[in-house]
Amino acid sequence: MSTVPRAPLPAGAAALEPAAVAHVSHCLRTLRSVRSFHRTDVDPELLTFVLDHAIQAGSGKNRQPWRFIVIREPAGRASVARWYLDTWQRLRAARDEAAAAVPDDARQTTAAATLAAHLGDAPVLIVVCFLPNPTNPADFFGGASVYPAVQNLLLAARAVGLGATLTTLQAFDTATTAPAAADGADDRAAELARRCARLKSLLGIPGPAVPAAVIPLGYPRRPFGTGARHPLASVTYGERWGHPWPHAAGDPAHPWSGAGPHPG
Ligand SMILES: Cc1cc2nc3c(=O)[nH]c(=O)nc-3n(C[C@H](O)[C@H](O)[C@H](O)COP(=O)(O)O)c2cc1C
Repeated sequence: MSTVPRAPLPAGAAALEPAAVAHVSHCLRTLRSVRSFHRTDVDPELLTFVLDHAIQAGSGKNRQPWRFIVIREPAGRASVARWYLDTWQRLRAARDEAAAAVPDDARQTTAAATLAAHLGDAPVLIVVCFLPNPTNPADFFGGASVYPAVQNLLLAARAVGLGATLTTLQAFDTATTAPAAADGADDRAAELARRCARLKSLLGIPGPAVPAAVIPLGYPRRPFGTGARHPLASVTYGERWGHPWPHAAGDPAHPWSGAGPHPG
């Protein structure tokens, strides 16, 4: 377990107990993308717990531009899974043709392909939709107001032993990409637009709402592992870009760089 730093607290500051911090840390460090699930059903109250934490996330101007569609019925999951696999195969084929020069991480591709083939095996699918700001629909930061809620969802799920994966295959923002798609300038954008529209019609998602994430969720077949991450020192600067952040010196041996065993 990483040691929780014990800095002196200013008056009125309210830190969690060190043991609780260690649990939070463990949860953050072992939040993995889970793509293989037991068929065991997930109690709807547990889902409510998870969703109730998702909506605690912040959002620009507290607009809370999110909607969650929870799909548990086998027929609904199967139709989204068919859509997902078809979308994956089409986009993959287009990508293979157009972007062979940009090599993929083979492991990631295999993992994503496996998920595409088995999405319907997850006992729950949650589609998170983003409601763009009508006065500024192309606002990049608007989109940034939905993924914190997704991350909360993933963390709350992890805390109660559920695994999930954020997927964004379908995330097609009509406001920013539709013009290229409409005039045929970009075949991939046009295909994405069609795929996104298909998912919207499957789920009755209205007008401007964007399906920002499709999240399979259930009990993982494998234990949550630790993540493969670049060391903190390689991605953190002090004061200016390129200047080392001295407190991360020595990474990856730095105690905060490893997940460690479960604190409980
Ligand atoms: C924005 C975003 C999009 C992602 N899209 C997919 C996806 O379409 N399919 C998939 O299998 N995983 C997807 N992932 C999961 C990543 O592959 C995963 O987070 C990354 O490989 C690190 O692995 P870990 O989460 O297990 O640590 C996505 C993650 C993020 C943050």
